[in-house]
Amino acid sequence: MSLPVVLGNAAALERWRMAGKGKLGFVPTMGALHAGHLSLVRRARQENARVLVSIFVNPTQFGPKEDFKRYPRDLNGDRALLAAVPGTAVYAPSVDEVYPEGFATTVKVGGALGERLEAEWRPGHFEGVATVVARLFALAKADAAYFGLKDYQQFLVIRRMALDLGLPVKVRACETVREADGLALSSRNRYLDPRQRDLAAALSAALREVKRLAARGERSVSRLEKAGRRALGRVKGLKIQYFAVADAASLEPLRRLDGKAVALTACLLGKTRLIDNMRLGNA
Ligand code: PAJ
Repeated sequence: MSLPVVLGNAAALERWRMAGKGKLGFVPTMGALHAGHLSLVRRARQENARVLVSIFVNPTQFGPKEDFKRYPRDLNGDRALLAAVPGTAVYAPSVDEVYPEGFATTVKVGGALGERLEAEWRPGHFEGVATVVARLFALAKADAAYFGLKDYQQFLVIRRMALDLGLPVKVRACETVREADGLALSSRNRYLDPRQRDLAAALSAALREVKRLAARGERSVSRLEKAGRRALGRVKGLKIQYFAVADAASLEPLRRLDGKAVALTACLLGKTRLIDNMRLGNA
């Protein structure tokens, strides 16, 4: 298995793009790749002749007190993982290339998608995400781009942005990849000590419990949310930021479960912030 080529700037990316043939799939990431990322790359490879994986820790989507500086960076490890999927190239641009001198544009998705839940706890986060993804879309010129439902709200924000701006790229969603105990794979799981790692399974357990209650006929959203918070509340050292059931497409709050819904949560385990979600019923 040969290591994927690393394209360090836009000119190299353009040469690589022009030299190849067939549909191009794009998987934007911040690196520290794991099997969740790899599932996106595999899906992209199935549906395209070649795949571009961007690795860029985007400073503008981190808050001033967040983990931008200590976010794990491991280009060699990432390349070794990607060697498993032939036909893949890595685009690892510098901050200056993504945001050249004079860069002054921000993309903001409005409404519940861009303003509720994650957006309330991470002000400016989705502006950073939408702006960098729009910029990366312009650089990659791909036919389709692949995102994980692990970051459910992020997927909806990006899909909305691409639709609203008429960007010529298909935005595809991929299921969340989990550990055996249910914990969603995340680059941030590396921050957890072994005790916290065990406790982290509580997020998916609480979401599963709510999904089970909904499947058994519970229609009251406040009761479902209470059950989720109660399950998480039993875990010592875990702090709930939000546990919410919302409309699966708009993320507007719901009173009753009639249409498609999603349960979403964000928690702190020590200093590590974890998010997870599960669609309820037939969503
Ligand atoms: P990052 O956290 O590196 O994630 C890159 C992609 O991998 C995202 O689409 C994310 O949803 C997906 N992913 C992460 N963990 C996953 C899992 N367990 N199962 C399935 N997919 C998973 O998300 C970002 O980077 C950034 O915000 C980015 C979109 C690259 C913009 O900077």
